[in-house]
Amino acid sequence: MSHDLTNLDRQSLRGFLQLVEREFPDEILRIREPVRTHLDITSIVFELERAGKSPVVVYENVEGSSMPIVTNIAGNRKLLAACLGVCVADLPTAFRERCQRFIPCETVSSAPWQELTIEGDDVDLTALPIPLHFAIDAAPYITAGQLAARDPITGVDTTGFHRLMLKGKNRLGVSLHSRRRMWEFHRRAEERGQSLPVAVTLGIHPLHYMGSMVYAYPPQVRKYEIIGGLFGEPYLLARCGVQDLEVPVGAEIIIEGEILPHVKEPEGPFSEFTGYASYRSTQNVFIAHRIRMRRDAIYHSVASGMSKDHILISCVTREGEILNSLKRNLPNVISVHVPHTTCGAFMAFIKMKKTAQGEPQQAILAALGTEFYTKHVVVVDEDIDIFDLNDVMWAVATRVRPETDIFFIPGCKGAILDPTSDPETFTLTKMGIDATRPQGKDFAERLIISEEQRRRTREILRKSGVAL
Ligand SMILES: Cc1cc2nc3c(=O)[nH]c(=O)nc-3n(C[C@H](O)[C@H](O)[C@H](O)COP(=O)(O)O)c2cc1C
Repeated sequence: MSHDLTNLDRQSLRGFLQLVEREFPDEILRIREPVRTHLDITSIVFELERAGKSPVVVYENVEGSSMPIVTNIAGNRKLLAACLGVCVADLPTAFRERCQRFIPCETVSSAPWQELTIEGDDVDLTALPIPLHFAIDAAPYITAGQLAARDPITGVDTTGFHRLMLKGKNRLGVSLHSRRRMWEFHRRAEERGQSLPVAVTLGIHPLHYMGSMVYAYPPQVRKYEIIGGLFGEPYLLARCGVQDLEVPVGAEIIIEGEILPHVKEPEGPFSEFTGYASYRSTQNVFIAHRIRMRRDAIYHSVASGMSKDHILISCVTREGEILNSLKRNLPNVISVHVPHTTCGAFMAFIKMKKTAQGEPQQAILAALGTEFYTKHVVVVDEDIDIFDLNDVMWAVATRVRPETDIFFIPGCKGAILDPTSDPETFTLTKMGIDATRPQGKDFAERLIISEEQRRRTREILRKSGVAL
């Protein structure tokens, strides 16, 4: 088999691991101690996070499996920025710009995952080292499965993560609760009484993860073209055996199958990104017909719950998406932050140089209109550091007059997994907070210590033996 190794290396999970080993050796942890798929894989990531660390973790000795497991490939802003070749501060802006430069894909005929094919009665998903992430999970879950399918009407494909609950040798429960393209494609197939052909890709580069989370883009564009934009070169794809679906050449494992029409089965509970056990699900069923994989495949898992691996890219993509839409009408918007602690979704902070009354309200409506998962938006002035939650809270505490600066929009579409959304309609009330100073009026003056004075004090402290 001949492969363009250079492109493959750049675009694959393996290539990413090599980059981290080479350039950030402190950000990869190889665990040779035996670990179990039962709870160990994800709880070790949480223990590291508690200690303020978020390296890529490679488990080399997984009990009952010859496959290594890789997790936490997306829990670290430094590594995500390195994938785009920028510094951490430029990550949302670089992402915002690159994901708008769609690059057509390149389709090749051979891929390393064609080395092994398992089909028919030999298909046995229980042979994969699928972790049980939290004790409340109903079963082991594939969390890093990128599902690809084509729109039954237009034929344009999509790719995105959807949790997969292990139910049997060829049966997985799936929940399409984010209600974006995959949900709509399945609904369209179901309307015709058809199943939706789907290919599940396991083992992707963080830029594929990032590009797959983009949602506001023209309907004729392929997500693979957005991922190409992030790589700055055509994304390499190869055709698999489901319909004429294409999947990344650099993948480790491909599971080919279909989501059944009009079949609902219990699925969940699952440890969700909200930090809660989630009992909500669309309860769909995926049947696997064929597995294709590298002979030495690596199993990729995403740490579930409110881990950075699960949430950080959502923060960055939402920051980019909201900024994209705000910049179109409000050039005086400076930056957007969606904090990890708000589940990478539910709250957005917007920093702007206000030039007229009413602009924060316009920014709030535009942000809420861009992203239905986001339900609270806070707008602050240009002197506030929106990446510092303390600074934002100070602005809310000192610049907000609740009777005029907080407003509610009832009955909006919310996230199914948001515990505050109505359990039947999934609607909720959204809130905007204008924490900017009034325009054109005197307002209290912020206390500041000049840079020159700070330098002087730091020097005095240094000479007094105080390490800062
Ligand atoms: C690790 C991870 C797991 C996810 N699991 C699900 C899921 O189980 N169901 C779902 O609908 N969305 C899930 N999402 C969100 C979707 O992947 C995301 O909204 C994506 O843009 C949907 O792609 P689509 O437009 O092709 O449907 C998950 C996201 C991440 C990062």
